[in-house]
Amino acid sequence: MQNLELKNKTILVTGAAGFIGANLVTKLIGRHEQMTIIGLDNMNDYYDVSIKEFRLGEIDKLVAENDFITWEFIKGDLADNALIKEIFDKFKPQIVVNLAAQAGVRYSITNPDAYIQSNLIGFYNILEACRHSYDNYEGGVEHLVYASSSSVYGANKKVPYSTDDKVDNPISLYAATKKSNELLAHSYSKLYNIPSTGLRFFTVYGPAGRPDMAYFGFTNKLIKGETIEIFNFGNCKRDFTYVDDIVEGVMRVMQGAPERKDGEDGLPLPPYAVYNIGNSSPENLLDFVDILQQELIAAEVLPADYDFDAHKKLVPMQQGDVPITYADTSALERDFSFKPSTSLRDGLRKFAQWYKEFYKV
Ligand SMILES: NC(=O)c1ccc[n+]([C@@H]2O[C@H](COP(=O)([O-])OP(=O)(O)OC[C@H]3O[C@@H](n4cnc5c(N)ncnc54)[C@H](O)[C@@H]3O)[C@@H](O)[C@H]2O)c1
Repeated sequence: MQNLELKNKTILVTGAAGFIGANLVTKLIGRHEQMTIIGLDNMNDYYDVSIKEFRLGEIDKLVAENDFITWEFIKGDLADNALIKEIFDKFKPQIVVNLAAQAGVRYSITNPDAYIQSNLIGFYNILEACRHSYDNYEGGVEHLVYASSSSVYGANKKVPYSTDDKVDNPISLYAATKKSNELLAHSYSKLYNIPSTGLRFFTVYGPAGRPDMAYFGFTNKLIKGETIEIFNFGNCKRDFTYVDDIVEGVMRVMQGAPERKDGEDGLPLPPYAVYNIGNSSPENLLDFVDILQQELIAAEVLPADYDFDAHKKLVPMQQGDVPITYADTSALERDFSFKPSTSLRDGLRKFAQWYKEFYKV
């Protein structure tokens, strides 16, 4: 592995107004090192844009307090090839973190175009820009880090999910695009010697998270007095990963690029890696919902006497769902001495407190 400093670097973060992207930018600023951070995001309305604006506002406040950071936000589309070229020509990023994507599994049924545009064409534009960076500026891109997803494991039954497992059977278009990203990155790493690392994130949650995700949707429904549906009668186990843990993992990975070396044939071996980042300790869905409810009451988002049982419906498994999924994170621990550690209670408490503040409940 090649160690990279973040200090004095120019870092491009795509999806910078997104949940993980904005948290990453925040943590990078918090390092108190000289850095140029370029954020790209098209601010699409897949979910409430005011949350994206809120995140950017928080970043602006931090930037204002930190002289050593140069922060440039560009509102634009990853699928716009000319724009991506322009960004690379102008800013010459040395580290690229590609987080912009159309996320969500269900939305891909109604809006497949968004996945092809952002996740395939957009990612291809990033790869091409990385490839040409070596001709266009000194050193070029030293490390491309990009978001993949635990959804690449499809309906695999073997747990924990390991990066050594076969992942050739995606069960959603979203998963297919994420697996494609890994394949495309592999070919570009081999052909153009681009050090790249894909990160398979496992259900990320936290303050100012994504409203399309279950914990956020449950909260919205409970407040309105609606009933939430808990699949497989609550007998599902999942890895829920707190956003700070994800971001810490991303930052460590950014600083360790797969090494460029030649194989026996004298040709470069692809400097390519893929890791899982997840809590590696699956939680029962019912326990998750129970802790969420307790923390919503503690944060005064829900009243103390809220009749939770009256708003909870246990329903059968949905098609394609698997009863238990969690990450084998041994490779991340081995290479980066890191394992997520935030407890569900601490993480959900922070979410509940943020929710109270943001929606002025
Ligand atoms: N949050 C999770 O649980 C999770 C799990 C697995 C993988 N991921 C992946 O991690 C990455 C970040 O996820 P997130 O939860 O922060 O999602 P997010 O939707 O909050 O962030 C993605 C951001 O990218 C932007 N974007 C989308 N398409 C774009 C385009 N074509 N051009 C420019 N910007 C575009 C969106 O406006 C959004 O702000 C995504 O690639 C996602 O697929 C997330």
